[in-house]
Amino acid sequence: QIAYVNGSFVPLSEAKVSILDRGFLFADGIYEVAAVLDGKLIDNASHLARLERSVGEIQLALPETIARIQEIQQELVKRNNLVNGMVYLEVTRGADTGRDFAFPKDVKPTLIMFTSTKDIVNAPSAKTGINVITVPDLRWTRRDIKSVALLAQVLAKQAAAAAGAGEAWMIEDGKVTEGGSSSCFILTQDDVIVTRQNGSEILPGCTRKAVVALAEERQLRVEERAFSVEEALAAKEAFITSASLFVQAVVSIDGKKVADGKPGPMTNRLREIYVEFAK
Ligand code: PDD
Repeated sequence: QIAYVNGSFVPLSEAKVSILDRGFLFADGIYEVAAVLDGKLIDNASHLARLERSVGEIQLALPETIARIQEIQQELVKRNNLVNGMVYLEVTRGADTGRDFAFPKDVKPTLIMFTSTKDIVNAPSAKTGINVITVPDLRWTRRDIKSVALLAQVLAKQAAAAAGAGEAWMIEDGKVTEGGSSSCFILTQDDVIVTRQNGSEILPGCTRKAVVALAEERQLRVEERAFSVEEALAAKEAFITSASLFVQAVVSIDGKKVADGKPGPMTNRLREIYVEFAK
């Protein structure tokens, strides 16, 4: 396994950053995860656009151009002979000589990348669907920034894992914001695909955006608004989207079945459409 660290391709076991790195000390950094299918990065322009937006929102200048970052991603896929999986990339405000909260001067941002293997298309949970639990959304109020401050999601997804569930849906003011690492959707009884509108309450998911566009192209009805768990439990179908799982059915919420507790036809259709789009 080869990783990328600040200009060099090195074995993963030798890939290191300083303990003074602000990503480590303050979670002062941004990340992106892009899927790889048959050696090709999926919807990467969308991920890189979001990266640019995220770093802009925290006044962090990328150490490389977007074009160069894409080249590095592709080079890493090649060096690791990666066929199916993900490229993780992270940029932090770098390592200063101490621990000042305010931005340091003349410090070069840290840029790292590594890959992981996963057969997203044939993942077993794509067939069976996943169970989710609900947890209060304990995060800060700029969730539109893809920051590496993920402690609330770590705790949410650990609670899900402990309950034998695959994802945690986070709840705020009685409405679902999003999953620990995914965007949430339902299909209402009158066949409207509903997903929460973008804003500072959620991350603008790249897969969410693509699925909404692909659905609209096919004249499927889409509504971008918040929904409650009660509405999801009364829905025809529920599903989640993310770069690391594409589209996956949600078959139960807090132990209660969604419809008949099996992945529904619309979810399966949207998944197929997304896989086609990705190929
Ligand atoms: N997570 N919402 C949150 C909070 C996320 O962390 C993610 C992605 C998404 C889906 O976004 P996208 O479709 O662009 O992947 C929504 C990544 C995969 C992760 O943290 O591993």
